[in-house]
Amino acid sequence: MFEWNDKYAIGVGSIDTQHKGLYAIGAELYAAMSAGQARERMSSILARLVQYTESHFAFEERLMQLHHYPDFAAHKAQHEALIRKISGFREDVQNGMIGIGIPLLQFVEGWLTDHIGKTDRKYVPCVNAKAAA
Ligand SMILES: [Fe+2]
Ligand SMILES: [Fe+2]
Repeated sequence: MFEWNDKYAIGVGSIDTQHKGLYAIGAELYAAMSAGQARERMSSILARLVQYTESHFAFEERLMQLHHYPDFAAHKAQHEALIRKISGFREDVQNGMIGIGIPLLQFVEGWLTDHIGKTDRKYVPCVNAKAAA
């Protein structure tokens, strides 16, 4: 799980680097889970994933605003929905209400791949056009 594939690249260098970073933390979480590591260890990787996601989203939102991306509001709403969801997971894991298992990882990976492949990809022409002007 969480294997980066170059077909996920959208062609904006800084963004692709951050997306790879997200996959790398996801892969770390999957490896920790597969190795049967302690809940605290997985919980701290999950916390790092949430934190990195938040900073990536903030970066992306600044970039879209800078280029007056017309679909900014809808894109930001998707980001906020994911943050709410994974912050909830993190709290539930910390409280011992849920374990980190395949369904949780599948949700995060599926969301990431879908969002990057569909939603992120849409701002590329806008960001690149204005950058070249
Ligand atoms: Fe993104
Ligand atoms: Fe995004």
